[in-house]
Amino acid sequence: MITFSSVSKTFEDGTEGLKSLDFRIREGEFFVLIGPSGCGKTTALKMINRLIEPTTGEIRIRDREVHTFNIHELRWNIGYVLQQIALFPHLTVAENIAVVPEMRRWSKERIRKRVDELLDMVGLEPSVFRGRKPAELSGGQQQRIGVVRALAGDPEMIVMDEPFSALDPITREQLQQDIRNLQQEIRKTVVFVTHDMDEAMALGDRVCLMRQGEAVQIDTPQNLITRPVNSFVRQFIGDRKTAWLTAVDVMMEPADPYLTTEERLAEAEGRGPVRLPLYVRDQQGHLKGEWNGHSLKTDILAIENDTKLRDAVRLFQEADREVLPVVKGNRLVGVLSYRSIVSYLEKSSREGEVGSV
Ligand SMILES: Nc1ncnc2c1ncn2[C@@H]1O[C@H](COP(=O)(O)OP(=O)(O)OP(=O)(O)O)[C@@H](O)[C@H]1O
Ligand SMILES: [Mg+2]
Repeated sequence: MITFSSVSKTFEDGTEGLKSLDFRIREGEFFVLIGPSGCGKTTALKMINRLIEPTTGEIRIRDREVHTFNIHELRWNIGYVLQQIALFPHLTVAENIAVVPEMRRWSKERIRKRVDELLDMVGLEPSVFRGRKPAELSGGQQQRIGVVRALAGDPEMIVMDEPFSALDPITREQLQQDIRNLQQEIRKTVVFVTHDMDEAMALGDRVCLMRQGEAVQIDTPQNLITRPVNSFVRQFIGDRKTAWLTAVDVMMEPADPYLTTEERLAEAEGRGPVRLPLYVRDQQGHLKGEWNGHSLKTDILAIENDTKLRDAVRLFQEADREVLPVVKGNRLVGVLSYRSIVSYLEKSSREGEVGSV
C-alpha cells in the first residue's frame, strides 16, 4: 500500500533526517513507527502526504509514485493527525470535523450525519459537543476531535503523529482502545508514530523501530520481544516480556501430550505415577479433563492461549498448581508449567546481558 524505497532526507542545514529508509506497509495494516526523539519519525510521516520531499529515494502509494497524484487529492485521501493538536480555534467542533468533507463538496446533509456519527464513535454526545469551540473542550476531548477529523473525509489512509502523547494514562488507554477498534472496523491503513513502546505493542500489527534515520527492525510486537536483532532493540523493548508474551509463546507441545480416547486412558494406568498431568481430549481436540491415574476429573482450570504471562503467573499462584493445560476456545493446544515461565524469563534476561551489536 505504502512503499518507501531507499528514502533519505538531508535538510538545508546539512542535518540528515533520514538516511535510507525502506519498508512496505500493507493494505489495512496498523503500522507503528517508533524510536528515540530526532530519529526521523515525523520526517518519514510527512513524506507520505508530501509535506516534506525526500532528497533521494521513492515513495509509492498503491504502486504509484506520490508525485503523480494531484496534491489535493493525495492529502484528502490521507487523514492526518498532527503531533500538536491543531483545531481551528474560531470554528466549532462540527466545523472543525467538516473541513475536508466541505472541500470535497459533500452535501450539507451528508456532512451533518458524518459529524454526528464520528462524535458518537469516540463517545462524545453530538448534541452536547457539535456546537462547542475547541477552547471549551478538555485536552483529551480535543485530541479525540483531532483523531475523528482525520477520518471525516473517509480517507484511504490515516497517518498519526503521537496523537495521544499529551494525555493521562487512563484517557490514553481508552483512546488506544478506540482507535484499535475503529481500525478493525473500518480496515484503514494506519501509520502511527509514537515513542511509547507499550503503545506500539498494544496497537501495531507491525512495528518499525528507528534509530538515526534508519529502520533497525521491522517486525510484529511478538518478534521484537522474542527475536530482537541487536542490543539496541533489546534495550528499547526493555522488560516487557511478562506484559506482552502469552501462554502460547512459552507452553510445551509434547509429542504425546494428551490422551485422546477411552482406550488410551486404560493405557495410562500402566504408567505408574505420572509426572505431567495427563489431559484428555475428545476426537475434536476439546479438553475433557485431567486423568489422575484412576478417574477423569472434568472440572479443571485451563489457561487461554492468549493469556499474558503476567496474568498466567498470577493464575498459577492463585490456583497453587505447577502445570496447567492451555486451550484455544475449547481446544487443548498445549501444556504450560510454572517452572517453564520462570526459566524462560531467566534465560531471556541472561541473553539480554551478554548481547551486543
Ligand atoms: N526543517 C528541518 N531542518 C533541519 N533539520 C530538521 C528539520 N526538520 C527536522 N530536522 C531534524 O531531522 C531529524 C529528524 O527529525 P524528526 O522531526 O523527524 O524526528 P522525530 O523522530 O519525529 O522526533 P520526535 O520524537 O522528537 O518528534 C532531527 O535531528 C531534526 O532536528
Ligand atoms: Mg516527531
